[in-house]
Amino acid sequence: MNDKNIIIVDDDKNLTKMLTFILEEEGYNVVAFYEPHSCLSYMFDHSCELVITDYKMPEMSGIELLSKIKKYSPETSVILLTAYGTVSSAVDAMKLGAYDFISKPCSKEELKLKCRNAIAYSAMQIENRMLKEKLSEKFSFANFVGKSVVMQEVFQLIKKVSKTDSTVLITGETGTGKEIVAHSIHYNSIRKDGPFVAVNCNAIPKELIASELFGHKKGAFTSAVTEKKGKFLLADKGTLFLDDIGDITLDIQVQLLRAIQERVISPLGSEKDIEIDVRILAATNKDIEVLIKKNSFREDLYHRINIFPIYLPPLRKRKDDIALLVNHFVKKYSIQNTGKNETTVTPEAFHFLNEYEWPGNVREVENAIERALILSEGGDILPDHLPNRVLVKNGGNNRARETLFDLLDSGLSLEEVEKFLLENALDKVKGNQTMAAKLLGISRATLIYRMEKYNLKETSFD
Ligand SMILES: Nc1ncnc2c1ncn2[C@@H]1O[C@H](COP(=O)(O)OP(=O)(O)OP(=O)(O)O)[C@@H](O)[C@H]1O
Ligand SMILES: [Mg+2]
Repeated sequence: MNDKNIIIVDDDKNLTKMLTFILEEEGYNVVAFYEPHSCLSYMFDHSCELVITDYKMPEMSGIELLSKIKKYSPETSVILLTAYGTVSSAVDAMKLGAYDFISKPCSKEELKLKCRNAIAYSAMQIENRMLKEKLSEKFSFANFVGKSVVMQEVFQLIKKVSKTDSTVLITGETGTGKEIVAHSIHYNSIRKDGPFVAVNCNAIPKELIASELFGHKKGAFTSAVTEKKGKFLLADKGTLFLDDIGDITLDIQVQLLRAIQERVISPLGSEKDIEIDVRILAATNKDIEVLIKKNSFREDLYHRINIFPIYLPPLRKRKDDIALLVNHFVKKYSIQNTGKNETTVTPEAFHFLNEYEWPGNVREVENAIERALILSEGGDILPDHLPNRVLVKNGGNNRARETLFDLLDSGLSLEEVEKFLLENALDKVKGNQTMAAKLLGISRATLIYRMEKYNLKETSFD
């Protein structure tokens, strides 16, 4: 017995019984109806992978039944049973979405094979839908967090622009979430059932990018042994995400401008223009206006893609989001690793996480948390589980910056600063060497060595 369900609809009772017998022998759950209405009402609350229906029935034709099934249960495969010699009407049925047809009479083997294929096809359709739903969920707003005012504004922009077909230029430092914004726009748009195709303009060798984007005909160049569909065509009825657009060369920029402006492309080696139906999203971590000044980016292309700009500020400018992101990633990776979400981050660890500058932005937070969860082995996340740079930067550099000053343009002798700090520390603790060493984060022996170096008086009351 397998868990696949087949419905048979035919007014020929003998044939129905025989088909039921053969398919039940194969382990399918089979339900038979002698007229189409009962089949439809049964399907209303039962799922089924395959319907085998007669083509000619008195109350409703097989074609009519097919169109009703496709409307309510598009993933169910439909096979039509046709009288011998009516192949042309069967072909019409396939155009309307039938999976296959079987001309009566047919062999047991043909029946079994066609059913097996039709059921596999239906299972694939269901799997595809589930994958798409998973992707939509991944890129839903629930998994895209930020409570800072600037991020709330970004969410509003995404919501508004998702409803349109406008070209969007997403900018921001590395790791700020440009790709996740592109996904969110696609999966919240009317094109969400179409493909989302991403091209990383930076990762593809310059000589290959034209054929990657626009495709090529067989023989267009020496290594073009077969025809290739470009990303513009692969993204048909969907979204094309041009990541790192600031890195494309000027000659490709010309071709891109034409594609975006005129909505046509011509594959390499082809004279013919092909119309495209693609929504364009682009991203860069470069300042395109600077590139324009350096003559490495075309101003006309910039205006074409900068119709609706979305800027993602660096994390250090939206510190309110750090705690939210930390908790989001703790939950995500705890559930992924252990199926549970019991880990918490101690206030001490939070202190360091909040103070750090995060030059790698959200990606760096995500990596730090993933690593901390491995080190904490299911326990709470402590400062010890955080990367050194997060602790050092906080304990050292930032504090130094707060206590000291910016280096003067005229420069300064490091030894002079060291001597000044030694004297200052000794003064503060009235010459107590143990305490002065502690204040400076060095050993007492090092302090004494340096005091000797700078000829500082010993006034220790240790
Ligand atoms: N606001 C957010 N909420 C949840 N996860 C986020 C958020 N922003 C970014 N991320 C996650 O951080 C990681 C880096 O984000 P993404 O790849 O989108 O950055 P990017 O701006 O495209 O970086 P790069 O310029 O290096 O390509 C991804 O795993 C993404 O899911
Ligand atoms: Mg990216």
